[in-house]
Amino acid sequence: MSDDHGTIESLSSLAHDDGESYPPSAEFREQANQRSPEVYLRAAADPEAYWAEQAQNRLTWKKPFTEILDWTNPPFAKWFADGELNVAENCLDRHVANGLGDRVAIHFEGEPGDTRTLTYAELTHEVKRAANMLTSLGVTAGDRVAIYMPMIPETVISMLAVARLGAAHSVVFGGFSAESLRARIDDVEAELVITADGGYRKGRVSPLKPVVDQALELDDADGKPSTVKHVLVVKRGGNDIEMTEGRDLWWHEEITSYDGEHTPKGFPAENPLFILYTSGTTGKPKGILHTSGGYLTQATTTFSDVFDIKPESDVFWCTADVGWVTGHSYIVYGPLSNGATQVMYEGTPDTPDWGRWWQIIEKYKVSIFYTAPTAIRSCMKVGRQVPEQYDLSSLRLLGSVGEPINPEAWRWYRDVIGAGKTPIVDTWWQTETGAMMVAPLPGLTSLKPGSSQIAQPGISIAVVDDDGNPVENGQGGLLVVERPWPAMVRNVWGDPQRFIDTYWDKFGDKYFAGDGARLDEDGDIWFLGRVDDVMNVSGHRLSTTEIESALVGHHAVAEAAVVGADDETTGQAVVAFVILKSQQHLITEAEAEQELRAHVASHIGAIARPRNVYVVNELPKTRSGKIMRRLLKDAAEGRKIGDTTTLADTMVMQLISDRVVAER
Ligand code: WTA
Repeated sequence: MSDDHGTIESLSSLAHDDGESYPPSAEFREQANQRSPEVYLRAAADPEAYWAEQAQNRLTWKKPFTEILDWTNPPFAKWFADGELNVAENCLDRHVANGLGDRVAIHFEGEPGDTRTLTYAELTHEVKRAANMLTSLGVTAGDRVAIYMPMIPETVISMLAVARLGAAHSVVFGGFSAESLRARIDDVEAELVITADGGYRKGRVSPLKPVVDQALELDDADGKPSTVKHVLVVKRGGNDIEMTEGRDLWWHEEITSYDGEHTPKGFPAENPLFILYTSGTTGKPKGILHTSGGYLTQATTTFSDVFDIKPESDVFWCTADVGWVTGHSYIVYGPLSNGATQVMYEGTPDTPDWGRWWQIIEKYKVSIFYTAPTAIRSCMKVGRQVPEQYDLSSLRLLGSVGEPINPEAWRWYRDVIGAGKTPIVDTWWQTETGAMMVAPLPGLTSLKPGSSQIAQPGISIAVVDDDGNPVENGQGGLLVVERPWPAMVRNVWGDPQRFIDTYWDKFGDKYFAGDGARLDEDGDIWFLGRVDDVMNVSGHRLSTTEIESALVGHHAVAEAAVVGADDETTGQAVVAFVILKSQQHLITEAEAEQELRAHVASHIGAIARPRNVYVVNELPKTRSGKIMRRLLKDAAEGRKIGDTTTLADTMVMQLISDRVVAER
């Protein structure tokens, strides 16, 4: 267990504000979607009315809602509960019906350089056919479909086809292992998995279907066989795969039997839309459940206001993978519901070289670009001479998400990528919040490098102390959301108690986000990182305990402790300390380190692979036997070791820190 769950003391550093501020230019403000601060006042005066107005104005309802928020059974919120809509129709058919069928929805760029353009009419047609295909495979409203795909148009088509039928998708990031995939398939009891043979990553085909096969062959966790009846396989990588007769079907062979006629039905606003797994403080990832009407309202509103989207002229690009919530809300639902044009790129930023992203921006004249601080820092390391070779003059707004952006990276992003003039919106939100919560409005906010600044209209955020009392300006504390919001997590799939325990136990009626934050003298919000055992590596959430369980699952390991240590590029890096079982003295530490890093990657996924594994003889424990990760973090970050007086054996940390120093 952690020694420092959810306390303010565990914050490692305090961000500071040196008064630097960038007001919007007159030119930007004049054309901005939100150009009057009145929106904040109006929303604050009556948040429910504000959200109802967004839901009515921005979405098409099959049956109008009369109820707005139902909070009679907290923390289980319902929004717009008596209304009915079809999420896919909102993202597709209605644009076509409005005469926008010829507008490009997706400019797809494959990693090898192949391209594909899908207009709204074409995307709608493909989704209708896919919906018919899924219907004949037995998918109906209320079912769950697992999606394990590369970044290709069929991924978006699959998600929308599932949504169109009133079923829920559970997208599993393609970098997750067979074991992680299987755990998620079992948890949602999916009968259908949609995958591809493989996808392109770093210049080669990374296989996916073989991982699905492996996942389905794994021993059944609780004696129950997998629920999967069919695996639908998109041909992408061209790699050799095996097809199991009766279970596996090629997408391109099946789809030819279906036409593009499909009438979207309305489903209740609280119908599940997706379940997305995210790491928590305990071992097992949580299935975060999102529903339809409220989620789509907030994804649509924030996409339009924070990115200041002009769907008729902007070209948007979000570099996230659809396997994460950022891809759900700002590749699929936010952009498409707004009828925007976007770029979708399959591969990595350094393939074939570090110019790739900038070349794509130049090629498609991307005007709004959304990425993560870790990527910006990698580009900084490579140097400004790379982006400077490309014409980036189409860019008019930049966004950041996933972790706090350090002011140096913010300034580099604005100067080098944004020609010293684009606004940067630093957007704070979570898988659980579904959509952006804290972010500037670019036509209104004077930007401060490193701060997300201000709650979105209609969202009530506070920074509180351990007892839940709001802190004063200039003080740090814990971030909470004070009122229910439309895109909020509705439940942890299959585990309502965990939903209550994780988010609502600490402060009762306020949602506890797990992030530390500080208010500056102006009341602007500066995020300080997680206050729990969740690490943030390259903007991906990883749980220390989940990695620890993978490590102790290895036959050579007796005990393990994992911390997230500051890392110049990835924000945090996974650092593990392990005690080997006594008979393991025969393998060298270098061998053990290599073996254990690979072990974690194969059990959870490559993103969880520790940067360092240190073999130690003891771990620092309190007299009651709790591991003091705080001290291990000090050692891993090369800092002076903090207070060790509560340790049972005060010498332990000296040995560990010598061990870390020796390897640096
Ligand atoms: C962190 C990603 C500071 C935060 C959308 C949060 C951020 C976790 C920011 C959620 C930001 C995300 N500034 N921290 N702009 N954006 N975070 O669920 O710790 O993958 O709790 O959602 O990322 O990560 P998740």
